[in-house]
Amino acid sequence: MGANKRIGILTSGGDCAGLNPVIRAVVHHARGNYNWDVLGICQATQGLMTRPPQAIELDIHDIDRLLTLGGTMLGTTNKGDPFAFPMPDGTLQDRSDDIIEGYHSLGLDALIGIGGDGSLAILRRIAEQGGLNLVGIPKTIDNDVGLTENSIGFDTAVNIATEALDRLHFTAASHNRVIILEVMGRDAGHIALSAGIAGGADIILIPEIPYKLENVCRHIKKRQDRGKHFCLVIVSEAVCTEGGEPVTQMQQFGECRLGGIGQYIASQIAEYTGAETRVTVLGHVQRGGIPSSSDRLLASAFGVAAVDLIAQGKFDQMVVWQNRQVSSVPIAEAIKHYRNVEADGTMVKTARGLGICLGD
Ligand code: F6P
Repeated sequence: MGANKRIGILTSGGDCAGLNPVIRAVVHHARGNYNWDVLGICQATQGLMTRPPQAIELDIHDIDRLLTLGGTMLGTTNKGDPFAFPMPDGTLQDRSDDIIEGYHSLGLDALIGIGGDGSLAILRRIAEQGGLNLVGIPKTIDNDVGLTENSIGFDTAVNIATEALDRLHFTAASHNRVIILEVMGRDAGHIALSAGIAGGADIILIPEIPYKLENVCRHIKKRQDRGKHFCLVIVSEAVCTEGGEPVTQMQQFGECRLGGIGQYIASQIAEYTGAETRVTVLGHVQRGGIPSSSDRLLASAFGVAAVDLIAQGKFDQMVVWQNRQVSSVPIAEAIKHYRNVEADGTMVKTARGLGICLGD
């Protein structure tokens, strides 16, 4: 099946559950069915930048336990834009040509890049510049890549956040507390909305729907009047203060990261309702762990489809999940359509139907 080829695969951007199952699917199909050589590129594009390029030959016996393994066996990074790469002397250098040279020096016929919209945009620019044959696979717990209903990693993250709500429910009810769960998702509220519905949250705050503290507190009071003296609130990390200020934390490398909105909401609720509040910040727990069955299915389907795209010579494409099947779209189109929560979409309507307060 198919002339002999040598393909590379890399994972780029933040890790998530489901990356290893994609690698497994690609090796199974490319190596097992097409008899191609498969090279796993280490540490995203940095593996192609390094001399000699950092890559490992992957064969069927190397992928034995990948289906259930979290993270990525290839390593990844969400730092260091290759077009302005931070050098040890503190300067920024365009290292894109090194990546292109690395690709060609490995004798690759094509490259599968697994990443979110940021990584895929960078990879596409490099591919265009250097004549690389690129196929993209969308992954991100944020689920914000355009034109695909699901990205790898989202389902596992939602399951973890849902389980956290399930657990918090008991302790909130036992102590009559308002517990706020802060979840990731960057600018999109998909994790909070889905986990909030699945985990029975009373209040869901997402960046796409502006809220008023007055409405949030009224909802808590209404519950108290009905004899429910506890409340579960789930909030996306990118939700702003009521006045519209983003809540961020300065961390290493001078980077400004999202985080802290849960604490803000908690202190406001405490002040206006007198309720006892507690905050749980789920953080990177959402990215780790065993991939859910849905993520394993999606990863397997995407991996197989990406290999088939290469066999058909269809490049500059990203595999997508649409209408219960895998197809592909130009990477440029996917990047153009940032996908956040639709304020009048099914999930928002569902939340409202369930009597969940969205703060508006
Ligand atoms: O994009 C995935 C994501 O987990 C976001 O939800 C979150 O804001 C960010 O990455 C965290 O990045 P880091 O791993 O660099 O802390």
